[in-house]
Amino acid sequence: MEKANVLEMKKIHKAFGGLKALVDVNIELRHGEIIGLVGDNAAGKSTLMKILSGAYHADEGSIFFNGREVAITNPRIAKQMGIEMIYQDLELCPNLDVPANLFLGREVITKPFIRFLKKRIMEDETVSILRKLKIDVKNPGLRIDKLSGGQQQAVAIGRAVSFNPKIVIMDEPTANLAVVEIDKVLDLTLRLKEHGISIIIISHRLDDVFRVSDRIYVLKHGCIAAVKEKAKTNKEEIIKLMFMEAHERQGQRARQ
Ligand SMILES: Nc1ncnc2c1ncn2[C@@H]1O[C@H](COP(=O)(O)OP(=O)(O)OP(=O)(O)O)[C@@H](O)[C@H]1O
Ligand SMILES: [Mg+2]
Repeated sequence: MEKANVLEMKKIHKAFGGLKALVDVNIELRHGEIIGLVGDNAAGKSTLMKILSGAYHADEGSIFFNGREVAITNPRIAKQMGIEMIYQDLELCPNLDVPANLFLGREVITKPFIRFLKKRIMEDETVSILRKLKIDVKNPGLRIDKLSGGQQQAVAIGRAVSFNPKIVIMDEPTANLAVVEIDKVLDLTLRLKEHGISIIIISHRLDDVFRVSDRIYVLKHGCIAAVKEKAKTNKEEIIKLMFMEAHERQGQRARQ
């Protein structure tokens, strides 16, 4: 039996002035599923996910979360619903340590003694999150800018997970990482899935998308050009779909 959808985005349209960034986009995400979102530069990937995370508003269309229509009017509402987006620039504070980054915006400013206790709680919680996700940061007391790119990405993922999300969106999580680090981030992505989190991963690296995704959505010029089960497609086909124009696709379909 097919798993139920945790998320449906239906007939999403978004324009920036005269530029149609998204046209009639439909996306479904099943419980515990990882979908890859691929497409050339400016295809509309980040825009679509920013609509889901409440950073942008769609001009038209609807979003269903666990079967119920929802109005994601700002990022706070998305977070409350359990939708976490990890942006390409990670939004970490380079001069703060790992616990401070994990709890950024959540630390309560109180009397010095309580603050000390809170710090301890945050540190313990950090260790438990890092351990739960098998994130390899030996010394969480280090400033973020002293960690490698992969470790920083892992901390950003840890931070997202600390909110107990149902859905995590990752925008290019493996860009600019060394090969060993890419492997670790992808393993971590698969571990989130084991914890029951549904994931949408945007990536230019098709190897990565093929390694973790169950299904792949191809966006082109703001439209969904194709949706493929990973097991029933290959990189060559996805590349063709990313770059083939609509009329060529129709021609190909007619010939089949
Ligand atoms: N805030 C904005 N104002 C104006 N235009 C925007 C804005 N955000 C995105 N766009 C435009 O919308 C289109 C889609 O952009 P988007 O960032 O979603 O593409 P993308 O698929 O994420 O590309 P990339 O792979 O380069 O990250 C682009 O033409 C972009 O210039
Ligand atoms: Mg983008």
